[in-house]
Amino acid sequence: MSDNIQRFTPGAAPAARAAVEQLKAYSAPLEDRRQMLRLDFNENTIGPSPLVAQALRNFSTEEIAVYPEYDGLREAVVQNLLETGCRQGLKPDQVGLFNGVDAAIHAVFQAFGDAGETLLTTVPTFGYYSPCAGMQGMTIEAIPYEGERFDFPLAVIQESLAARPPRLLLICNPNNPTGTRLPADQVIALAASAPGTLVVVDELYEAFTGDSVLPSADFTVTPNLLVFRSLAKTAGLAGLRIGFAIGHADVVDRISRVTGPYDVNSVAVAATFAALADQSYVDAYVAEVLRAREWTLQALRNAGMRHHCDGGNYLLVWPQQPVAEVDAALRELGILVRSMAGKPLIDGCFRVSIGTTSQMQRFVEAYLRLDP
Ligand SMILES: Cc1ncc(COP(=O)(O)O)c(C=O)c1O
Repeated sequence: MSDNIQRFTPGAAPAARAAVEQLKAYSAPLEDRRQMLRLDFNENTIGPSPLVAQALRNFSTEEIAVYPEYDGLREAVVQNLLETGCRQGLKPDQVGLFNGVDAAIHAVFQAFGDAGETLLTTVPTFGYYSPCAGMQGMTIEAIPYEGERFDFPLAVIQESLAARPPRLLLICNPNNPTGTRLPADQVIALAASAPGTLVVVDELYEAFTGDSVLPSADFTVTPNLLVFRSLAKTAGLAGLRIGFAIGHADVVDRISRVTGPYDVNSVAVAATFAALADQSYVDAYVAEVLRAREWTLQALRNAGMRHHCDGGNYLLVWPQQPVAEVDAALRELGILVRSMAGKPLIDGCFRVSIGTTSQMQRFVEAYLRLDP
């Protein structure tokens, strides 16, 4: 009764859980981006394989009317992972299917994070981990990257794991936005050192320049290790929302328990089968991004522009003028980048995604004219 009085004030909307009342909705500036050169969200900048477009054209009204079917999808993901270097022996029940990796992140927190427990992570890093911890009423211990090259704070994380084993350790590898890379054997060693902690490695960008644990991880030895992969950034399926969590079958089972039965829709399923069947398209796109990366770095070096680039399909640039002004001026020219204003350690810079060489030529030309 007293709880009801607290939660329901006549005429006011009912209050949510206390932890939720303290949150702000996670929102990113995602509107009005079509027709622009989108270098702000690290998406694939040329779109998916023609096989995906064909699968969507062939999508029938019957398929729209019935609930999604997932038969064979986990098997197809396993097959693709094995072909792209994953350790032999991976089974379909070790792959969870989610409505984007965002949904997998949310599910991990729902399944494993209780109020008062700790999320250990790094800062600055991908922005959706903290709100998910906040929803659960968890405490966040965020360890800063180190030095001018934003090195991974390995000793501090090791110390923290040993002294106060947290419920969850989240490592974005390579890190968005600093690109920081942690070698796979060190990630696995962290998991082995803290069997009571679920160690989650977000490998969204590893296909570009990164270090995956999947070729070497043995989930029977480190059952507390979980890996995220997505087709959003490499295969160009960001708009359809599909992501994978790969790990010990029991962990995958627990995070699947807090996921709705049809959260991945039928269109995403059809597109995923098609995208997985055309790995050569993804390989060619990644190769082009790596060529464009080299071209862009050389251009920034030649111009004497302060920048930082490590793993992933993005880099950081520190403009001479205020970042908000450069961001707005580029937008006027139809080019979107992501301002990092206010972010710890990288305030004043912007992140630019790496697309194709011609797209990067357009960006660099415009940028150097604005901020010579
Ligand atoms: C590090 C990282 N993890 C997860 C996500 C979310 O990925 P998805 O589009 O699969 O939900 C993003 C998207 O930008 C990201 O940068």
